[in-house]
Amino acid sequence: MERTNRLSMMPILIWTICVWIFSPPGAEAQFDYRVKFYREECPQARELVKDVVLKATAADMGLSAALLRLNFHDCFIRGCDGSVLLDSNFTNIAEKDGFGNMFSLRGYRVIDDAKAAVEAVCPNIVSCADILTLAARDAIASIGGPAWRVTSGRRDGVVSYASETIDNLPAHYSDFADLTRLFAKKNFTAKEMVVLAGAHTIGRTKCGMIHGRLYNNSGPDGVDPTLNATYAVELKKQCPFRTNFFKHVPMDPTNHNNTFDTNYFKNLQHHKGLFKSDAALVSNVKGRALVALQTSTRRFFLDFGAAMEKMINTEILISPQGEIRTNCRHTN
Ligand SMILES: *[C@@H]1O[C@H](CO)[C@@H](O)[C@H](O)[C@H]1NC(C)=O
Ligand SMILES: *[C@@H]1O[C@H](CO)[C@@H](O)[C@H](O)[C@H]1NC(C)=O
Ligand SMILES: *[C@@H]1O[C@H](CO)[C@@H](O)[C@H](O)[C@H]1NC(C)=O
Ligand SMILES: *[C@@H]1O[C@H](CO)[C@@H](O)[C@H](O)[C@H]1NC(C)=O
Ligand SMILES: *[C@@H]1O[C@H](CO)[C@@H](O)[C@H](O)[C@H]1NC(C)=O
Repeated sequence: MERTNRLSMMPILIWTICVWIFSPPGAEAQFDYRVKFYREECPQARELVKDVVLKATAADMGLSAALLRLNFHDCFIRGCDGSVLLDSNFTNIAEKDGFGNMFSLRGYRVIDDAKAAVEAVCPNIVSCADILTLAARDAIASIGGPAWRVTSGRRDGVVSYASETIDNLPAHYSDFADLTRLFAKKNFTAKEMVVLAGAHTIGRTKCGMIHGRLYNNSGPDGVDPTLNATYAVELKKQCPFRTNFFKHVPMDPTNHNNTFDTNYFKNLQHHKGLFKSDAALVSNVKGRALVALQTSTRRFFLDFGAAMEKMINTEILISPQGEIRTNCRHTN
């Protein structure tokens, strides 16, 4: 009896110790404040965003991956400041029309709809940067993926340059060294880089993006020798030579139902990473060890949530910096 009681106390004890270790005094107070940022001014904000996101992803399953990618691409250029949402105009070509974003980022309409819903209830309070950050979290949580804490109080930036995408966003052809350097620039470790790549468990790309690996490479028949030969044959069927450039291919070939799971990492171990940048993660001993670690669902969900929390809190604008945009596509 006594033993049972003691055992049942263990999780609580462990939890208390963890909370204590991960929440140094001081940091906690500030964090807490920002979690509750809209509690007074716009208590409905979080639910309103979530409603719009759930409706949109129910109608178009692919939007969950799209929103996560949009959030990531926003945060990797000038922090999570909604800069990716700004439209190009006569005097400026914006991030969304830059290399790596153009023709492939989507989900802007969902953010517009969420912003409209929030503005209708509490105008000029909730930033587009916060809405995008909430939307990405809700989109992934809603498909059974990990959830992470989203602080609020980010302000919207007023600058967005297409020219900044190339030096800040990972490319589909990046190698391990390139990727590591790029993530290190944002203070992410190689481990966090591998963890975040796990987002490729959902989403899709276009045949045109992998033509080079299938038909113009150094292996037999022009196939990239680091690509699983069986998988290459399947991909060649879906993406015949010089055709179907715009046809969609799933990032994770085992993903038929938008499941956020560890299959991406298991695929990598079988050399079934779709992009060269995916294959790069198992191109050396260090990468292979990091990938192996993430084949545990518990580990992956914990680490992914933690990496996302770090990402969405990096380099953000806080009052009095920036502004609260009225329309997410334009500065005020
Ligand atoms: C063009 O967009 C930039 C930000 O993306 C903004 O600062 C600028 O005011 C806009 N120019 C015009 C003429 O709207
Ligand atoms: C990375 O960390 C350094 C040192 O703490 C800090 O000065 C820098 O601003 C950080 N960079 C980013 C992108 O957060
Ligand atoms: C094939 O690859 C070579 C070398 O990377 C490149 O110069 C060439 O343009 C590519 N051809 C096609 C059809 O993509
Ligand atoms: C796919 O997801 C839908 C909706 O969540 C569910 O009804 C269906 O049973 C799932 N199909 C498979 C094969 O898991
Ligand atoms: C290629 O994938 C198949 C399963 O589709 C797997 O059995 C095989 O081990 C993989 N080959 C390599 C070299 O990883």
